[in-house]
Amino acid sequence: MSTAARSLARSLPRHLARRPAPLRASAPRPAPSIPAHTTSIRHGGTLPDRSASFTKPTEDHLKVIRGFLSSPTSLLSTIDGSASADDLAVYNDDWMNKYHGKGPIVVKPKTTEELSNVMKYCYDNNLAVVPQGGNTGLVGGSNPVHDEIILSTSNLNQIRSFDPVSGVLVADAGVILETADHYLAEQGFIFPLDLGAKGSCQIGGNVATNAGGLRLLRWGSLHGSVLGLEAVLPDGTIWNGLSTLRKDNTGFDLKQLFIGSEGTIGVITAISILCPRRPTAMNVAVFSLPSYEAVQKVFSEAKGSLGEILSAFEFWDKQSFSLVKHHMEEHLGGERKVFETEGEFYCLIETAGSNAEHDEEKLSNLLEHLMSNEMVLDGVLAQDQTQFSSLWSFRELLPEASGKAGSVYKYDLSVPVGKMYSLVERIRERLHQAGLLEGDGKKEGPIRAVIGYGHMGDGNLHINIVADKYKEEYEKVIEPYIYEIVAENNGSISAEHGLGVMKAPYIGYSKNDTSVEMMRKIKQIFDPKGLLNPYKYIV
Ligand code: FAD
Ligand code: MLT
Ligand code: ZN
Repeated sequence: MSTAARSLARSLPRHLARRPAPLRASAPRPAPSIPAHTTSIRHGGTLPDRSASFTKPTEDHLKVIRGFLSSPTSLLSTIDGSASADDLAVYNDDWMNKYHGKGPIVVKPKTTEELSNVMKYCYDNNLAVVPQGGNTGLVGGSNPVHDEIILSTSNLNQIRSFDPVSGVLVADAGVILETADHYLAEQGFIFPLDLGAKGSCQIGGNVATNAGGLRLLRWGSLHGSVLGLEAVLPDGTIWNGLSTLRKDNTGFDLKQLFIGSEGTIGVITAISILCPRRPTAMNVAVFSLPSYEAVQKVFSEAKGSLGEILSAFEFWDKQSFSLVKHHMEEHLGGERKVFETEGEFYCLIETAGSNAEHDEEKLSNLLEHLMSNEMVLDGVLAQDQTQFSSLWSFRELLPEASGKAGSVYKYDLSVPVGKMYSLVERIRERLHQAGLLEGDGKKEGPIRAVIGYGHMGDGNLHINIVADKYKEEYEKVIEPYIYEIVAENNGSISAEHGLGVMKAPYIGYSKNDTSVEMMRKIKQIFDPKGLLNPYKYIV
C-alpha cells in the first residue's frame, strides 16, 4: 500500500481521529454440542467409487478422437505418450490442490463442430467426460474424479461479435474473462462480472457456475445478463440458443437451465451477454470498524447515500486482514501500515458512475457522515489508479493468502445479512471445543486461521478454514455441522461457487426433496447415461 494513500483519520479534524470505541462483548452463547457420530453421507473431501458402467479410455479411443481434431496439439494423453502425468497435472488438480483427478486424456477442440464430434463419440462409447474451462473452480467440479476425459474449452477463444449500440457481446466459451473485459474496455463497455480469478477463468466457466463475483450488487446475476447460449449436449447435438434479444417469451427459457449447471447437462461453447457502458468515474474507500453491527450500519448508510453509483460493498474480519497483510509482506515485499486505528472488521466501498464531480461529492458526504458520527474507526480513500488497485488487493488477495497459509476448507454461504457473522463465530467455537483451534490460530496448526469475509451487498459470506493439511478428522468436525447451521438460518450452502464434488452430498440442506427430484429428471432428459461430469452436483 503506497504511503500516499490518504488516511481519512489524518485528513479530518483531530477529534474525529479518535481511539477505537470499546468493543461490545458478544452475547454468551450455549456451547455447541459435537455429535458423537456424524451422518452416514459421504464427506465432501472423500470421493465416490468409479462407476462400472463407464468404459475405460484406451489407445483405440484416442485414435478415433484424434481423427476429429484439426490439430495434433488438441489432444494430450498419457496413454499414447503424447503427454506425461506431470503435463496433465494442471488439468487434473484443482486450484486449491485439494482434488486430484486421474484423467489420462485432455481434448481441446478448436471448433464447436469438433467438440460435438468428440462428445458424440464419447456418448456412443460410454466414455465419461468432464468439461473444463479455466480450472479455477473451488468445489472440485472441473477435475476428473477418476479417469473421465477432460474436455477443455481453452481453444474456443474467439470474440464472435460486438454491437456497440445494444452492448451485446457474442463470444466463444473459452475466452478468458479478463480478455473479454479488455476487449470491451476498448469500446467503452464493461463485462458485467468481475472476480479475483479473472486472469484465468473463462466466460463459459463463469456461466456454467453462475459466478457472482465482486460487483453482482451493481451488475446483477448472469441469469439476468446472459441473453443466449450455444451448447453441445451429451449426445453431441449442437443447440443453438445464441439469441441476442432482451425479450423473448416463446416458451421455456432453456438457457437458464445451463446457467449454473456446472457442466452436467451440456458443454457451453458460446455465450451472448448484455454489457453495460463502462463507468468513467470510479472511487474506492476502505474502512476499519469496531464491530459487525457497525459494518451493517455502514452498508445501510452507503446504500442510502450512494444509491445508483454504489458498485461494490465487501467486508472482511481482522483475522482476514492479518492473513492478507502477512501474505503481502512475505510474498510481495514491504510493510503494510494502512490504518492509524485498526478494527475488528473492514469494509470496502466502491462507486462507479459517469460524472466524477457528482460521484465524489456523494462519496465525500458519506465519508464525512461516517467519520463524524463515529461509525467507523478510520478510513482510506484511493487517490489514483495505483491506490485503487492496492486497496482492492486487500480484499482480492484473500483466496491466495489463505491458500499460501495452508490447506483451505472453503465455505461459500448465503444467509440473511444480520446473521452472517454469527456463523463464523460458531465455527470458531466448534473448532476450539474440538481442540483444533487455539486463539485465532497458530502457524503450526492444526487449524491456522478461520477467516470470514464476503460480498456483503449480496448476503454472501465466505468462511475459509486454513488447516495444516486436508484431513478427514478436521472435515468431520466442520461438515455437516456448517451446513446444519446454514439450514437453521434458511440459507444456501453455496451462494456462488456451486456444488461440484464437494457439496453434492449436501444439497438437501438447501433444496427440498421435490426440487432435487425435479433436478434429477432434468439431468436424465439431457444425459440419460450420466456421462457428463459424473459424481457431482446431484448424486
Ligand atoms: P472451471 O473451474 O474450469 O469449471 C467450473 C465448473 O464449470 C466445472 O463443473 C466445469 O465442469 C464447468 N464448466 C466449465 N466450463 C464449462 C463449459 N464451457 N460448459 C459447461 N460446463 C463448464 N467464483 C465466484 O462466483 N465469485 C468470485 O468472486 C470468485 N472469485 C474467485 C477468486 C479466485 C482467486 C479463484 C481461484 C476462484 C474464484 N471463484 C469465484 C471461483 C471460480 O473462479 C468461478 O467459479 C469461475 O466462474 C470458474 O470458471 P472456470 O472457467 O475456471 O471454470
Ligand atoms: C471471493 O469472493 O474472493 C471468491 O469467491 C473466492 C474465495 O472466496 O476464495
Ligand atoms: Zn466470492
